[in-house]
Amino acid sequence: MCSIIAYASCNGSDVSSILLDSLSLLEYRGYDSVGIAVLNDSSIIVRKGVGNVKDVNRKHRLEELVGSIGIGHTRWATHGSISDLNAHPHTSCDGRIAVVHNGIIDNYLELREGMLKDHSFKSETDSEVIAHMLEQLLSRHKDIKDAMVTLLRLLHGSYAFVALLNDGTLVGSRYNEPLIVGVVSSANNNLYYYAIKDEEDNRYNDLFCSSCFISSDVLAFIKYTDKAIFLSNGEFFILRPIKDGYRLSIYDTEGNKISKQITQIAWELSSYVIDKGKYAHYTLKEIHEQEYTIARALCSKINHEFITRLIDAKRVIVIGSGSSYNASLYAKHLLARVGVNVDACIASEVRYSISIDSNDVLLAISQSGETADLLDAVRYAKSKGCKILSIVNVNTSSLARESDYFTSINAGPEIGVAATKSFTAQLAVIYKVASLIARENNNYDYSIYYDSLGSAISKGIKDIIAKENILSSIADTIKGVNDIYVIGKGINHIIALEGALKLKELAYIHAEAINAGELKHGPLALIDNSRNSAVIALNVKDHTYKDVINNVKEVKARGGYVIGISDCYEYKECYDVMLNLPSIYDVNTNCNSVDTISYESLAYPIYQCIPLQLLAYNIAVKRDYNPDYPRNIAKSVTVT
Ligand code: BG6
Repeated sequence: MCSIIAYASCNGSDVSSILLDSLSLLEYRGYDSVGIAVLNDSSIIVRKGVGNVKDVNRKHRLEELVGSIGIGHTRWATHGSISDLNAHPHTSCDGRIAVVHNGIIDNYLELREGMLKDHSFKSETDSEVIAHMLEQLLSRHKDIKDAMVTLLRLLHGSYAFVALLNDGTLVGSRYNEPLIVGVVSSANNNLYYYAIKDEEDNRYNDLFCSSCFISSDVLAFIKYTDKAIFLSNGEFFILRPIKDGYRLSIYDTEGNKISKQITQIAWELSSYVIDKGKYAHYTLKEIHEQEYTIARALCSKINHEFITRLIDAKRVIVIGSGSSYNASLYAKHLLARVGVNVDACIASEVRYSISIDSNDVLLAISQSGETADLLDAVRYAKSKGCKILSIVNVNTSSLARESDYFTSINAGPEIGVAATKSFTAQLAVIYKVASLIARENNNYDYSIYYDSLGSAISKGIKDIIAKENILSSIADTIKGVNDIYVIGKGINHIIALEGALKLKELAYIHAEAINAGELKHGPLALIDNSRNSAVIALNVKDHTYKDVINNVKEVKARGGYVIGISDCYEYKECYDVMLNLPSIYDVNTNCNSVDTISYESLAYPIYQCIPLQLLAYNIAVKRDYNPDYPRNIAKSVTVT
């Protein structure tokens, strides 16, 4: 997925530094190449190149571009190699239109070889067709609105795009990719917006704005305004420069003017400081933030209807991608324990491996709420009459807006591409949901319980983070291995899956989660004394402890190198090195534990997950990789 930004400033102030600032906040969406285009007088100047925002700006001096209207882009390559020519913005043959695009134009080759065969293309991308289409349709229709209506009829695929025209007009539209308008009003900067009657049809209002943002994510402009307009599928906007500002008009696919609601973005997001602070990387900062985010997630408000829908469902299907799929497996584990008929499925598999009907409830889990595989599964399930519940981190996301009920994990923006704080906050909310289901029939106020559980777990996390030096030396020992096998049993196997994913995402190590009991049925053949591989045993003092110790001994017997992550010293000598976890028995929740869901089911998974995150992070840094922007992946992939 890519990121898009456009900014039209008031009183002619230059936009390039603001565009670059926003792009650096959106870089988690894609960092193969970067580019901006600004309008200077009536010429569009484009500067772009391969690399991240800082490097491309240094090399091509993007911030020196002068102009008060501009567009920008960071790329996650799908069509065409990572190259300067394939970087966005792309321009029309006459250079009077520049376009930035996120998504995939499925019929781009047809358009290139068909109605655009006389155009000369500079890139291999699908996106460039939009610039040439607009050029062609504008010369046919002479009116940008009519050109846009025809364009949207001819474009097939998923898209969010913004085009800059050399008369200072910005136009754009979206289909299955997010596109948000940010309208700015701040008295001290004399920035404002208001409705203006449309001369042609006074039923509808245009909006006068002194300055305006358009972007893939509110994060890009949240520090300038918390007022946003979320475009729906097929809608398009035209922003025309007028005296002292801009006129914003929004249309449906047919070109009928529509009025759109202005949404107030949650203050939590607008007050969140998005910078690394004292940390070397966002990923490390977000790992450390778990001291607070899990307790906050445990206090998340869960709508009662959300709980009753899960209880009354014939079957609940929990879906997710990446770390959110691992959280779905955790949900399946806990919901089954409170009597819910539940199944879990990888989001991109829903269409192919699970039959759904209207009695089912789909519980979709996603940090960003924009992952295309998941949104596709949600729309598929909806078409089968399914009720949609979701657990998200971005309350303004497409998933939250397309769900019947959603619950937020309130983890704050997560910039590091690999999920860390969002995953553990998902576990905390899932734990709360399951325990609320378990307690549905007794009206005891459990909020005290979640508060004390939250603060107890925060203390444990503090202890673990204080041991980062031990994890750093373990990372030193294993940074050269080719393979890592993370073993665990029961609920701990789910954390083994998450740990293996972090080692892949951050340290680029082939890591595999193996159910400890399965070792002797095959994977044990991978173990030898060559030190080219290592085993991490998740071995907490729960009902799996003894079994996993036996599996550890099987590995040791073949000369394998074993790292133990445990809160029990009983068989300490079985490991080559052990990371000692805080005892969960300090988690005194002064609450009856007759419950079917004891706090172990949250404390242990979290206490095991954080050392795995820190280990993957430390190996990545020691291998000189950038943990925030791992190669080839992006924060959430908005293309299927
Ligand atoms: C991937 C990210 O693109 O998407 C993972 O690299 C993430 O970290 C996965 O877990 C799913 O994202 P989301 O936003 O749907 O939870």
